[in-house]
Amino acid sequence: MSEMFTSDQIWLFLTFYITLVRSVPPVGLQPEQIHLSYPGNPRSMVITWTTFNKTDTLVEYGVWGGKLFDKVTQGSCAMFEDGGTEKRSLFIHRVTLRDLEPGLAYVYHCGSEEGWSEILFFNTIKEGNNWSPRFALFGDLGNENPQSLARLQKDTQIGMYDFILHIGDFAYDMEEDNARIGDEFMRQIQSIAAYVPYMTCPGNHEQAYNFSNYRNRFSMPGDTESLWYSWNVGPTHIISFSTEVYFYLDYGLDLLFRQYQWLEKDLKEANKPENRRERPWIITMGHRPMYCSNDDKDDCTLFESYVRLGRNDTKPPAPGLEELFYLYGVDLELWAHEHSYERLWPVYGFQVFNGSKEQPYVNPKAPVHIITGSAGCREEHDGFVPKPREWSAFRSTDYGYTRMQVLNSTHLYIEQVSDDQSGRVIDSVWIVKEQHGVAAWL
Ligand SMILES: *[C@@H]1O[C@H](CO)[C@@H](O)[C@H](O)[C@H]1NC(C)=O
Ligand SMILES: *[C@@H]1O[C@H](CO)[C@@H](O)[C@H](O)[C@H]1NC(C)=O
Ligand SMILES: *[C@@H]1O[C@H](CO)[C@@H](O)[C@H](O)[C@H]1NC(C)=O
Ligand SMILES: *[C@@H]1O[C@H](CO)[C@@H](O)[C@H](O)[C@H]1NC(C)=O
Ligand SMILES: *[C@@H]1O[C@H](CO)[C@@H](O)[C@H](O)[C@H]1NC(C)=O
Repeated sequence: MSEMFTSDQIWLFLTFYITLVRSVPPVGLQPEQIHLSYPGNPRSMVITWTTFNKTDTLVEYGVWGGKLFDKVTQGSCAMFEDGGTEKRSLFIHRVTLRDLEPGLAYVYHCGSEEGWSEILFFNTIKEGNNWSPRFALFGDLGNENPQSLARLQKDTQIGMYDFILHIGDFAYDMEEDNARIGDEFMRQIQSIAAYVPYMTCPGNHEQAYNFSNYRNRFSMPGDTESLWYSWNVGPTHIISFSTEVYFYLDYGLDLLFRQYQWLEKDLKEANKPENRRERPWIITMGHRPMYCSNDDKDDCTLFESYVRLGRNDTKPPAPGLEELFYLYGVDLELWAHEHSYERLWPVYGFQVFNGSKEQPYVNPKAPVHIITGSAGCREEHDGFVPKPREWSAFRSTDYGYTRMQVLNSTHLYIEQVSDDQSGRVIDSVWIVKEQHGVAAWL
């Protein structure tokens, strides 16, 4: 050491370094982990972030190309105490912008007079149903081995998506290391989630302390702390729900029944002729699939899957979801949990209901299921049984994610991106429906 620097030089360097460090705001006041969610109205956007000290909660924003930060909206801040031994407290800030013009680009920063974020931007959602929203879909993305993250960052930054749907299992796990893994993960996804609404549902990896990291860190629409909710976009009604209510009964069987009743009510409303005409596509997202051909012992590998058929070891018995979704004519069911990709032929009651043998997805006679849980995490891949059931149409264990575009009332496109194969599209399908709702199955 002394051969390279004199002690004077070391002092000079240290003084300089301390001055530099001092000149940025203290870490506790600096906003971080910034992410967007869509509250269901194209004039609105929700911005959520974290500080480690209590600060004010402001978003300053303006139309892209206009005067910077000519508008300001105040939000609210809630303390979240993690359940770990250190009982770390985080301040979660939430702002709902309500005066936006649909389909425009906005520039924003968030924080307070004690510390501002970098400059960020988003596009508001377009109004009406006469446009074609684009989505990225995946589940099971971890803080370690997040294989798809770089590709998703670039896709997002070049404007390929209107929404990201993260179908459960975050960070592995958010509560670990006294929730520092949660912090680290939320920083990692900021490069996506601060630019495009990042919509979520809970997975099994969020179960610690009654899903508290999940419930407190995200800000989905509705009043269920992000556990179940729905929103409309373009010609689509999307329902996000928790499959975990079928597995963690200790947190309350009433949650399962409350969700089921809500699902029924929401589906009934979405199926009113005037609503279904406006938004013919009904799409669900939930973490654990009803069907899969993986070689583990998960629920979906069983004929009597809890998610599919419900449970009869509870009092009262708990209804499953397959029949409910079928009766209300759900078009497409998105799942994750299995660290692989699998596309199914239209299926109901373990039976295939192709539109026709030649064109199984043209006027399918049952819902279509996609399982996309291979974004990348420390648990790596899940394998497949050698001989899948007849409902399995395509499978891959490559790391990757799914793109979806709802083109119009009749056409929906899905493709699977392999990260292992440098972004090659390894599967794609058009679902074409001249009719939606339960009548389409006949
Ligand atoms: C942040 O909070 C900690 C713990 O309460 C406190 O010790 C520290 O002084 C605060 N920092 C600032 C900059 O307010
Ligand atoms: C778990 O959280 C949910 C949602 O906040 C709540 O309704 C339920 O009562 C909680 N369960 C327990 C056992 O605390
Ligand atoms: C219901 O319970 C019976 C008896 O325990 C069992 O054989 C059956 O598989 C269960 N059905 C479902 C759908 O869980
Ligand atoms: C469904 O369609 C696919 C593709 O044509 C075909 O391979 C499969 O055998 C069909 N399944 C049934 C049960 O008709
Ligand atoms: C939807 O888009 C497809 C593909 O461009 C087109 O063939 C079809 O006619 C469109 N459907 C409607 C109802 O406009």
